[in-house]
Amino acid sequence: MSRGHGKVILFGEHAVVHGRSALAAALDRGAVAHAEPATRCSLRVDPWGFEVELGVAPADPQLVDLERALRGLLGACRVPPQRGLCVRARVELPPAAGLGASAALAVAVVRAVGRALGQSRSAAEIIEVVRPWESVFHGNPSGVDSFLATHGGLVRFRKGQGGTVVRSNAPLHLVVGHSGQSGTKRMVDAVARRLERQPADTQAAFDEIASLAQAGEKALVAGDLTQLGSLMDSNQQALRRLGVSTPKLDTMCQAARQAGALGAKLTGGGGGGCMVALAESKRRAREIAAPLLRFSQAVLVTEVSA
Ligand code: MEV
Repeated sequence: MSRGHGKVILFGEHAVVHGRSALAAALDRGAVAHAEPATRCSLRVDPWGFEVELGVAPADPQLVDLERALRGLLGACRVPPQRGLCVRARVELPPAAGLGASAALAVAVVRAVGRALGQSRSAAEIIEVVRPWESVFHGNPSGVDSFLATHGGLVRFRKGQGGTVVRSNAPLHLVVGHSGQSGTKRMVDAVARRLERQPADTQAAFDEIASLAQAGEKALVAGDLTQLGSLMDSNQQALRRLGVSTPKLDTMCQAARQAGALGAKLTGGGGGGCMVALAESKRRAREIAAPLLRFSQAVLVTEVSA
């Protein structure tokens, strides 16, 4: 099975689309895929039960983008037109939740196709090949999702420059809670419109978020989790001012803090999707997860160390 990682952004969503640095960590779950020769090219994605065949307009309008994304991906992979490939994938994350499920899926598919055709691709080539796929689902992505889906790890990421590994001096116990709503692409567009309407104010918010990401990296390297959590709280305030949080995400962040989180913020595009809370230990992470289960069943407790 070939794999792509999901991700969680600790600092810098949205600002990263506009040239600021973000700090993000890969999740150990994401997507896996396998490809084998067939008469036609097709992709099935479980557990969602989505199935598309290349060049065949899907009956379900929801799948039109998936067929278009697959066409772009197989074209970029230079799959010869006469070659058929049956690709089966399993995604281990909720869709459109800000956890990089679509990039994880694309990277897993590219790796599976490469294996089936005996192609070898560097990480940089994989990132290049998944670009059109990510544009279908995210419009104007920064590239942070595909970078982490491919490389894994904990990184400082800047659009156009890629990622630099960051070494944390303490393991990060994270709790990711899903609000049950979705909205990344919509929110990226909303922030772009806000930037046009209120350029000075919006650029100032991006700069503030960039400083928080920089301070967050220092706290990580120093292993200062209390400071890291407090900076995450400040990032959440800045995201609220940008208009990308929701009352539900705010309430979930508050519930996590009340349950002992050192800090909490939305992660990904906002407008729904997920929040992430920082815990001082694995035990505390489980205690923080409990109240978040009231909001949705999709709560993930994970550890990031680098
Ligand atoms: C989405 O996970 C994060 C955003 O910053 C978009 C992007 O970086 O492409 C909102």
